[in-house]
Amino acid sequence: MSLNLKESHEYEAELKNKLKKYSGHNYELIEVLHEAQELIGYLPKEAQKIIADHLNLAPGRVNSVVSFYNHFSEYSKGEFQVSLCKGTACYVKGSQDIIKKIEDKYGIKSGQTTEDGKVSLNVVRCLGACGLSPVMTVNGKAYGLLNPEKAVKIIENYLNGKIKEEGNA
Ligand code: FES
Repeated sequence: MSLNLKESHEYEAELKNKLKKYSGHNYELIEVLHEAQELIGYLPKEAQKIIADHLNLAPGRVNSVVSFYNHFSEYSKGEFQVSLCKGTACYVKGSQDIIKKIEDKYGIKSGQTTEDGKVSLNVVRCLGACGLSPVMTVNGKAYGLLNPEKAVKIIENYLNGKIKEEGNA
């Protein structure tokens, strides 16, 4: 989802204010990103640019750190945050087909959220459960041994309330 100008103006002043306590050294980057994400909820490109300017870093450097860590996101998150693994173990068991199915079904790519704000997709390198590959998590709960149909069914069960946040499948 893209950021609208109103939102940008809303956080810009506060972010710049928070940055004042940082001396402008690039080793502060991770801490600053944490604080900015806490403030905004995610790390839009405009915020990354403000941070890069303050720390005298190239915007591309900031963006590479944001992209590398799963904890950080460039996009606003949906109610159900789906992380799909494309690490080696999952890849060889067909994770690409699952990713494609979810992209097609919900009309989103990695890092995006559906228009209704319900589902976010994040394709990640490894979820640390390689023995259960292919794996995805929904709001942090892991589901393994997936195929495209199973993965969609799980997400649909979140959407229709058959799976509650507590994780009762
Ligand atoms: S490679 Fe997918 S969980 Fe590790």
